[in-house]
Amino acid sequence: MALSEFLQELDALKSDASQRFEEASTQEGLESARVEFMGAKQGKLKATQKQMGTVDKADKPMAGKKLNEVKSAIDSAFEAAQSRLQAGAGGGADSAKGPRFDVTVPGATVQLGRLHPITQTIEELKDIMGRLGFSVVEGPEIEDVWHNFEALNISPEHPARDPLDNFYIGLAQATNNEPRLLRSQTSTVQIRVMEKTKPPIRIISLGRVYRPDEVDATHYPMFHQMEGLLIDQRVTMSDLKSVLRLFATSYLGGDVHIRFRPSFFPFTEPSVEADYYWDGRWVEFGGAGMVDPAVLTAVGYDPEQVTGFAFGLGIERLCMMRHNIRDIRHLFNNDTRFLSQF
Ligand code: DAH
Repeated sequence: MALSEFLQELDALKSDASQRFEEASTQEGLESARVEFMGAKQGKLKATQKQMGTVDKADKPMAGKKLNEVKSAIDSAFEAAQSRLQAGAGGGADSAKGPRFDVTVPGATVQLGRLHPITQTIEELKDIMGRLGFSVVEGPEIEDVWHNFEALNISPEHPARDPLDNFYIGLAQATNNEPRLLRSQTSTVQIRVMEKTKPPIRIISLGRVYRPDEVDATHYPMFHQMEGLLIDQRVTMSDLKSVLRLFATSYLGGDVHIRFRPSFFPFTEPSVEADYYWDGRWVEFGGAGMVDPAVLTAVGYDPEQVTGFAFGLGIERLCMMRHNIRDIRHLFNNDTRFLSQF
């Protein structure tokens, strides 16, 4: 056989084999192409190789070199087809196996969200007070002067009504020229409940309040309070003390001491500041007292018939005590490195 003829045959073989390998869309198809071209006995490559014996002796080195090139080209065409099928890219309509997955590749971790520590605290407070028989009510965060001050016996000249100490909303937005403000205390909800409900009453209300305070480690212009109100016949100060002590014991755990210091709030008489004993010191807990007869009258109750107590506690402080948080700003910076610890 002439050298040129032999070389041509090799070239044809190479392109035939590559084409068949490329076209194979299943392992089986590829395997039969492999046997056809690379089979050790009947393979076409083998057959062509045998013909080398008929090439002139002088041309043999050339023929041998070409044969080796074609062999390794066919080998790599086969390997390429093999890995294409294994990667699943050859998954044509007749692919038997479908795409392959590497089950050892680490999965993408899903970052689950969690409840904000203040929300968690609120849920716990509701739970504790619920066991003491208090049900939860809500009130609006935008209030009128009647509910935020007037009905609570806070007179127009009282410093708590100072525009600089409150977030009044521009008169342009007010209905009937009646000023409104972001509520500065949850005591507003006491009024709203008593206006609508006859005694006995046993409620708590937890939510946001707003005051234009300078921000520092213990102040923030928005914070949360829990308000409590109990109205019934013959309610006394000792009932108030029992409820606050049971509450503190449940929230802080163990036998917590509490003490009352005389204080003043326009809507309670007498008024107290309640402290509890925690971690070797007295900690301020919130304000409380017996509901002032003027407040009972403002909502249409008869102070001769019913009495009651009320209290208001700062939720941030309770949460910060429990978790040893030293700066209130952590709670509102929304840094997930902080929040994800709770
Ligand atoms: N509203 C008061 C405040 O924001 C807290 C308070 C004191 C609430 C005495 C009460 C109470 O219900 O009886 O500082």
